[in-house]
This record gives sequence, structure tokens and C-alpha cells, in this order.
Amino acid sequence: MRAKVSVIGAGMVGGTSAQRLAERGYSDVVLLDIVEGLARGKALDILQSLPVVGSDAGIIGTASYDDVADSDIVVITSGIARKPGMSREDLVLTNMKIVAGVCENVARVAPESIVVVVTNPLDAMVQLALSVTGFERGRVIGQSGILDTARLRTFIAEELGVAVTSVSAYVLGGHGNTMLALPRLCTVGGVPLRELLPPERVEALVQRAVNGGAEIVGLLQTGSAYYAPSAAAVSMVDSIVLDRKNILPCAVQLKGEYGIDDVVVGVPVKLGAAGVEQVLELALTDDEMAALRRSADAVRETVTLMGLR
Ligand code: APR
Repeated sequence: MRAKVSVIGAGMVGGTSAQRLAERGYSDVVLLDIVEGLARGKALDILQSLPVVGSDAGIIGTASYDDVADSDIVVITSGIARKPGMSREDLVLTNMKIVAGVCENVARVAPESIVVVVTNPLDAMVQLALSVTGFERGRVIGQSGILDTARLRTFIAEELGVAVTSVSAYVLGGHGNTMLALPRLCTVGGVPLRELLPPERVEALVQRAVNGGAEIVGLLQTGSAYYAPSAAAVSMVDSIVLDRKNILPCAVQLKGEYGIDDVVVGVPVKLGAAGVEQVLELALTDDEMAALRRSADAVRETVTLMGLR
């Protein structure tokens, strides 16, 4: 039987994620939004694109959680997006209500599902989703690191004039200004990045990646990025549905790893059919470890704002 993937929120990230999933063809897709016509209209449009792209996936749009029942994976994108001048944290009070309501429904109709959270502020929303669903940590995973890493890889490849696929990069920590890029572990065709670029150029590329979302918000003016975020979220779904066991940077609740307890931050994990099947612990330098802890503290502050603890 084909997997069932539900996407909550049929806005820019949700609609694009549904399109990417339907085009892959390995699952049936449910697109849900409180604005029913938006979900139904986008789903119908995507459905009519599938004969052309050669996929026989099913896709429906709905406002009813009955249609989400027994989903294998639920991707949560519902919530407001940033406008120019806003940080991801500025979204917290609005998005916490939306995400909490969604998670109550998901836990009720799809209690065995794996939840992929995309709504910002990301790490705090994962913490909230864990708390509302009561799911174990391996089944509530946030999309952040794949996007941040992709941004850094893009800028490194552009700078060196090489294929992006030859560049690997590491970004850990919260999905915000305290994210922690690890240039020490970035490689280009297997060669350490620091042998190819002077430290000040590396730092400039890292800063552009840290501000990558804000740069796009500034250009779009009316919303935030969605092509790269949806590609990142769907790559997580790929690894879970196809049991690929990819090692991907994702936001998960740490339980003592990296000396951090009960906080959600981005770290490399193995993603497979069971969700997070392993949290990888990189050997960090003292400075890197301190920066990761600062990032975790920033996430804790946002979680406190929500009154979760
Ligand atoms: N249930 C379902 N859908 C909802 C709900 C709800 N309770 N509340 C809002 N929505 C829907 C809106 O109707 C809208 O269609 O969520 C959608 C959000 O879409 P956009 O405004 O286009 O925002 P988008 O760019 O998709 O970003 C969504 O992802 O990357 C993050 O920071 C971004 O938090 C933001 C989220």
C-alpha cells in the first residue's frame, strides 16, 4: 500500500511541499487548510499536473481532519510567515496557537504518525508539538538544518565555481541567528573548505547563510522562502517513507546528547522508517560546544515565552 502523507497548511510552503510529494509519486497526499477552497483548489491543480509529469499519486484538498486519519507522516506548515523586519521568534505567539490546535487533531486522528514540523519559530514549535501530541521524540522532527546547510552549500559553490553537489556543509543549533555553522567540517570534493578559502571569506558566506531567510523576506516583501524550505521538508519525508536512513541535520529534542537536556535543537540524525533512529554526536571543540549551548539557551527562551515551562 502507498504511504499517506498529509500536509497541514496549503500556503506557499505547504502547497509547494504537496506538489513535490505528488510529483515523487510514492505516497498519496492530503493537503489541509482552514481555508478549504485554497486546499481544494491547489490539490486539484496539482492533480491535473500529474498526467503531464507522469505521476499517479493521489492528492486531495480538505479542511477536515477525517481525511488526515491514519497518515504515516504529517508535515505541519500552518502558521503565519515572516514579513520584513520580523525575526522568526516574532511569530511565536500567533503560531503557537495554530500549531497546538493542529497537533491536537493530528494526535487524535493519526496517533501513529511521524510529524515533520516546518512552522517557525521552528525549534520552539517542535517542542510544542512534542508536548501536545505526547509522541516520543523520534516521531516529532523539525526541518531547519537541511535548509540552513543547503543555503551555505549554495554560497560556497557559487564562490568557488563548483557544483553544489560537490559541497558538504554542517550547520547545527537552533533555526535562527544563533545557528552554528561548522566550517571546520565543510568539504568541497572531500577537501576541507579552509584549505580553499581564507577565513574571512568563509565567515562572510556563513553570515549570508545565517541571514539567508531574511534576505529572501526582504526581496519578497510579502512572505518568506518556500522553494528551499519545501525541498528540505520533503527530503525528510523521502528518508522516512523510503527508509533511506540518510544522515540529515534536523531539529530534535536532545536527551543528554551534547550535554543538553530537554531542548530541541538541530543536530545530525539518522532518519528512517521509525523517524529519528539515531542522534549522532559529533566531537565538537570547546568553542563549538559553547556556541551550541548558547543556541540551545536561545531556544529555551522562546519556549519559555510560550509558557511551556
Ligand atoms: N489550520 C490549518 N491551516 C492553517 C491554520 C490552521 N489552524 N492557520 C493558518 N493556516 C494556513 C493559512 O490559511 C495559510 O494558507 O497556513 C497557511 C500558511 O501559509 P502562508 O501564509 O503562505 O505561509 P508559508 O510561507 O507557507 O509559511 C508557513 O512555514 O517556513 C515557515 O516561517 C514560515 O511559519 C511559516 C510557515
